[in-house]
Amino acid sequence: MRIFDTHAHYSDKRFDEDRCEVLTKLRASGVELVADVACDLRSVEKTLELLDRYDFMYGVFGMHPHYAEYMTNELLDGLKKLLARRKAVALGEIGLDYYYDFSPREKQIEWFDRQLSLAAELNKPVILHIRDAMGDCLDVLRAHAGEIKTVGGIMHCFSGSVESARECLDLGLMLGFGGSLTFKNNRRGVETAAFAPHDRIVFETDCPYLAPVPHRGERNDSTMIPLVAEKYASITGMTAEEACEEAFVNGCRVFGIGVR
Ligand code: NI
Repeated sequence: MRIFDTHAHYSDKRFDEDRCEVLTKLRASGVELVADVACDLRSVEKTLELLDRYDFMYGVFGMHPHYAEYMTNELLDGLKKLLARRKAVALGEIGLDYYYDFSPREKQIEWFDRQLSLAAELNKPVILHIRDAMGDCLDVLRAHAGEIKTVGGIMHCFSGSVESARECLDLGLMLGFGGSLTFKNNRRGVETAAFAPHDRIVFETDCPYLAPVPHRGERNDSTMIPLVAEKYASITGMTAEEACEEAFVNGCRVFGIGVR
């Protein structure tokens, strides 16, 4: 079974004690690729170190909507340089978060929009973080529809309705499924998983967050992806192995990583 974790945060301080141990063990569990997302300034150094050290890790860089109010033109230039690196595969996670509203909404929209333009300029796919903001998100995405269709991307931890899933798929985006798919009462997730074409889904952890059932609340890592795959497989009538393989190939395609 080949596993691609398309969204991890191994720079997180919850891995400070045993990061190398955790990462070294991944390969034995079938985890062949990891995209590590550095979405604030603190994470960048650590993620760059990990990319140097581990062949199987790729980097995703961008300014999370939580920090939109601190974004500047200088930081955008810095981001551009990071994305020129060999193992930088995508721009993210970017988007809108109206659940926490840590940054003013107009700032979130402004920098979401500008980072989408940057992705188009650099021809990099995007990873989107959208929480309680699907309406505004779709407005921004529609304004960039042509660019999004060209660069592609992933709706990370997709939590919208089937209707918004359809719009995202029409824009050429993939849907990311993680631990929350296994949570009790996630009816929408189940409906979306049943609806999405198999060639448009990827698996992700968002670790250390969002560990799947029965580990909900514990520290997550990429070895828990089979629990998500099992749930996805039970919804779609595939085996967990088939689901992992499908998601693996899709992940490689969206990030432009040559499938070995
Ligand atoms: Ni994340």
